[in-house]
Amino acid sequence: MPFTANRQFKGQPRLLTQAKGMYYTSHDGRRILDGTSGLWCVNAGHGREEIVQAIARQAAELDYAPSFQIGHPDSFRAASAVAEIMPAGLDRIFFTNSGSESVDTALKIALAYHRARGEGQRTRLIGRERGYHGVGFGGISVGGISPNRKAFSGALLPSVDHLPHTHDLAHNANSRGQPEWGAHLADELERLVALHDASTIAAVIVEPMAGSTGVLIPPKGYLERLRAITEKYGILLIFDEVICAYGRLGAPTAAARLSVTPDIITMAKGISNAAVPAGAVAVKRAIHDTIVDATASGIEFFHGYTYSGHPLATAAILATLDIYKREQLFKRAADLSAAFEQAAHQLEDAPHVVDVRNLGLVAGIELQPREGAPGARASEAFRHCFDKGVMVRYTGDTLAISPPLIIEEGQIAEIFDTIRQALLAIQ
Ligand SMILES: Cc1ncc(COP(=O)(O)O)c(C=O)c1O
Repeated sequence: MPFTANRQFKGQPRLLTQAKGMYYTSHDGRRILDGTSGLWCVNAGHGREEIVQAIARQAAELDYAPSFQIGHPDSFRAASAVAEIMPAGLDRIFFTNSGSESVDTALKIALAYHRARGEGQRTRLIGRERGYHGVGFGGISVGGISPNRKAFSGALLPSVDHLPHTHDLAHNANSRGQPEWGAHLADELERLVALHDASTIAAVIVEPMAGSTGVLIPPKGYLERLRAITEKYGILLIFDEVICAYGRLGAPTAAARLSVTPDIITMAKGISNAAVPAGAVAVKRAIHDTIVDATASGIEFFHGYTYSGHPLATAAILATLDIYKREQLFKRAADLSAAFEQAAHQLEDAPHVVDVRNLGLVAGIELQPREGAPGARASEAFRHCFDKGVMVRYTGDTLAISPPLIIEEGQIAEIFDTIRQALLAIQ
């Protein structure tokens, strides 16, 4: 099983058999409140009838169309609908099937772009410590989570460097929203430019809000500085918004929420409400045009997937984006975020808690690691909550909460109350 303690899991499996609205049903018939939108992806809530119908209709009408040299109209409609949600100018869309594929696609677009404009020596990619960019070789190379890299370290991309992460409890513990301290950490990019020379650097990729590594909220001014430095040196800035896009932070994208526009945005998860695997990369039109115009005739970008823009995925994307718009779910997330923040920070005085942090409908509750057993405390808290009917996530010793955007205030209280009970119950 992916990212799972297989032996432990198989001794005591946790299986889900049904889902509707805010709730899962487990194989032993229990109702479980979804505090994590599945894996940060079911933003509109489970079992949405409009999406189910759209997928069923599409499967009956056109199950598949080749994506190379041939297309189908809905992939273009879906691309236009995605472009409408992206920041102005990022209106060229390439479809993938996952976040990992979106990341590798974005990195390849960055390299192809520089080559097309006659700077093929710009091959270096800059990621960030603690970054998560999926599990492709590109993604783990720019990623900064050491267990994800260790076993494969001999085969990572050669020209990669990393910025320092921004997590610092000494300065920022219990910040509400963006922390005050840490904008200067973006200046580390100047150091990397001085070391490698800008002429060798293709792109910088960061998660605007890092989710999988334990909810790291960008300090005020940090992303603005990264943007200014990348712009100064002609380096592309990629925001990996696989988690952030589609309302998680109370706006269509983190770029919109935080008022910083990158050159490329990667996405997946919420794009289709996870009903069909789907992802996409949005790029500025100038990047698209540079790559396409550089080739006199024939294929311009040697990249793509059999299932890029799969008809079931585009049907799910169109139906999902329609729900987001009709129900104004991004605004709903923004409106709920103050109550969510308040509920989360009530845990500051709970046992074992060393930090509570939040942005939009995301909260991280960091626990003091148990002596000699890092991660054990959060893992026990997760299992306790699951047994009590609330699904949370944990990574390291941080619990991560990211509920569907349809959550009600009473359910927010239930999630954080259950976590408090779990923290009181464990050692
Ligand atoms: C920021 C980010 N990038 C990439 C990915 C990888 O996405 P997937 O698991 O769909 O390949 C994730 C998954 O959580 C993510 O959070």
